[in-house]
Amino acid sequence: MKIAMVGSGYVGLVSGACFADFGHDVCCIDKDQSKIDRLHDGVMPIYEPGLAELVDSNVKAGRLTFTTSLKEGIADADAIFIAVGTPSRRGDGHADLSFVYAVAEEVGQNLANDAVVVTKSTVPVGTGDEVQRILSESGTSHKVSVVSNPEFLREGAAIGDFKRPDRIVIGAEDEFGRDVMREVYRPLFLNESPILFVNRRTSELIKYAANAFLATKITFINEIADLCEKVGANVQDVSRGIGMDNRIGPKFLHAGPGYGGSCFPKDTLALLKTAEDYDSPTRIIEAVVKVNEGRKRAMGRKVLEALGGHDEARGKKVALLGLTFKPDTDDMRDSPAIAVAQTLTDCGVEVVAYDPEGMEIAKPMMPEVTMAADPYEAIENADAVAIVTEWDAFRALDLNRVKTLLKTPVLVDLRNIYRADDMRAMGFTYDSVGRP
Ligand code: UGA
Repeated sequence: MKIAMVGSGYVGLVSGACFADFGHDVCCIDKDQSKIDRLHDGVMPIYEPGLAELVDSNVKAGRLTFTTSLKEGIADADAIFIAVGTPSRRGDGHADLSFVYAVAEEVGQNLANDAVVVTKSTVPVGTGDEVQRILSESGTSHKVSVVSNPEFLREGAAIGDFKRPDRIVIGAEDEFGRDVMREVYRPLFLNESPILFVNRRTSELIKYAANAFLATKITFINEIADLCEKVGANVQDVSRGIGMDNRIGPKFLHAGPGYGGSCFPKDTLALLKTAEDYDSPTRIIEAVVKVNEGRKRAMGRKVLEALGGHDEARGKKVALLGLTFKPDTDDMRDSPAIAVAQTLTDCGVEVVAYDPEGMEIAKPMMPEVTMAADPYEAIENADAVAIVTEWDAFRALDLNRVKTLLKTPVLVDLRNIYRADDMRAMGFTYDSVGRP
């Protein structure tokens, strides 16, 4: 089966490499010449564990190619995936669909055979209808069916998520679309991964509902964490205690500095816009968005508290460990670290940061923050350390060295990766999230 993947960003590249690994013949297409040149040289545009190796082995096997020419890339393709970005539209939070529609037009103009066009980008309800209209009006004489196939992979664990999914969702309106998608996912079908066939609009909404629900779960536990601090309870035990109920489940109940990344912030906003357009308010999600936004700066204030409060903090130095929105990625989009650092620098605190992968991208986004070569360089002579992202490297810090290097042994752990008792026994003034 021949697959064309239009858009070689995060979702497109991971999906393309995994489809090639299933044995399909895949061509990844991107307008960015330098990205395609680098991919030809084996250089990945993003940091994702295992991706470079997967791309390399499939290129060598002749199953994975790259091009900037859409016409060339879609020739003979049975399935043409659209995996371009759908960023928040400036000003109103609506998903910006201009890239998706531009691809649909170009596909329509260049289609040389019958094909299924699949939206893998996260797109609001009704986008598939519009893509189908664009293709129908392009004058193509070939049969073309538009299918929605949202992606549920997590950055940092993307390849595992793609190859061992909890479910595959396919929104198709005709048998042609369903048949081609069954072939595309045949290896997972044989593996008994659950495949859910629904109509196209339902599939589009499933993606947003899933992300909004997960964002709600995180925000819920974050507010419970605040309450834990007030009443002397431990949020990790609360998470365990409620998560053991199968109806609730243990995942996405880790309290922290608020969710970030390229998906939850953008998708919750876009869902609110859809709800508004259809006059069907989703007040829970409105609250989630508001609470999460406020939380990021509140975490900055937590660090200020550890420095002795707003006034005392001026002129002091804080070491920020972790900048990316989560570990195992270099993605800085909507990372809580940005707001935490901003809150500190606004109060005249000097911030020195270290992140294993994110510093290059973070630098221009945080001009007032100095980047260090390693965690210990950041910590040297600081008045406090704040752990913002739970990279494995920070779980195994040499704490004696940290204590010696610090001016005062103050550690604020916004990801609850250390045990409060151990830290206090070592002589740290330790604060974390939602724990006594
Ligand atoms: C998320 C979803 O988990 C994926 O299923 C989805 O495919 C993806 O968005 C997308 O729409 O493309 P991702 O943004 O990579 O994936 O990251 P997550 O692992 O979901 O984490 C998102 C944020 O929530 C991070 O800032 C993380 O630190 C935070 N989080 C997560 C918590 O604060 N607590 C938790 O218990 C879990």
